[in-house]
Amino acid sequence: MSRKPFIAGNWKLNLSVEEGVALVRALAPAAAAGKVEVAVCPTALCVYAVAQAAAGSAIGVGGQNAYWEEKGAFTGEISASHLKAAGAKYVVLGHSERRQLFGETNETVNKRLKAVLAQGLVPILCIGETLAERDGGKLETVLKQQITGGLAGLSAEQLGTLVVAYEPVWAIGTGRTATTAQAQEAHAFVRGVLRSIVGELADKIRIQYGGSVKPDNAKELLSQPDVDGALVGGASLKAADFIAIIAAA
Ligand code: 13P
Repeated sequence: MSRKPFIAGNWKLNLSVEEGVALVRALAPAAAAGKVEVAVCPTALCVYAVAQAAAGSAIGVGGQNAYWEEKGAFTGEISASHLKAAGAKYVVLGHSERRQLFGETNETVNKRLKAVLAQGLVPILCIGETLAERDGGKLETVLKQQITGGLAGLSAEQLGTLVVAYEPVWAIGTGRTATTAQAQEAHAFVRGVLRSIVGELADKIRIQYGGSVKPDNAKELLSQPDVDGALVGGASLKAADFIAIIAAA
């Protein structure tokens, strides 16, 4: 089963409007060949301007989170419909930083995911274990809970566009990446869990690896059979590094 590689940059809480616009312009030629799907996920405040700057290029823009209600008295929240209206195509959901710092649970991720799908946006569902969980032999239990909890109540028909990002928490921003064997093993497990939920669609779902992906380790990670792309943090903030990662795919 061939899956189009998908490289997405998660800019996290970095880059001003001007910096984001300049970066997406610098990236545009690297995505033009079309062999790799490319996206950048700026702060919500920058989505509109970055999407405008990316218009006509092959780069898609994503949000980093979305609230489950569409509108109303929810001060400070951002909805999937607003992201869509601003030009977003994707939304990152359940990132470990949101789980660890902002109280995100599998239940709230599930609500957000349903809202994102209802808007026709592509969810990038982030999952991944902490070092303590891995060392405690809980890797598979945690991943399974995150997947089944995140996708609860959704059918294969509804999940046709789903992207999953496996991001071991201990590899995020640490410079310590999973070995190719660790990545492949986890990705194959994730695909198996997906198969138990969505059947054959599991062979079409892209599973990105995330956690200290850099130009010098991208090729090896991406060469693994179940690694279908990357969700890149730090290295997505520099045009040359992100372009090298796109080229490695
Ligand atoms: P780093 O690439 O900076 O480790 O971040 C990974 C990540 O969290 C992407 O969502």
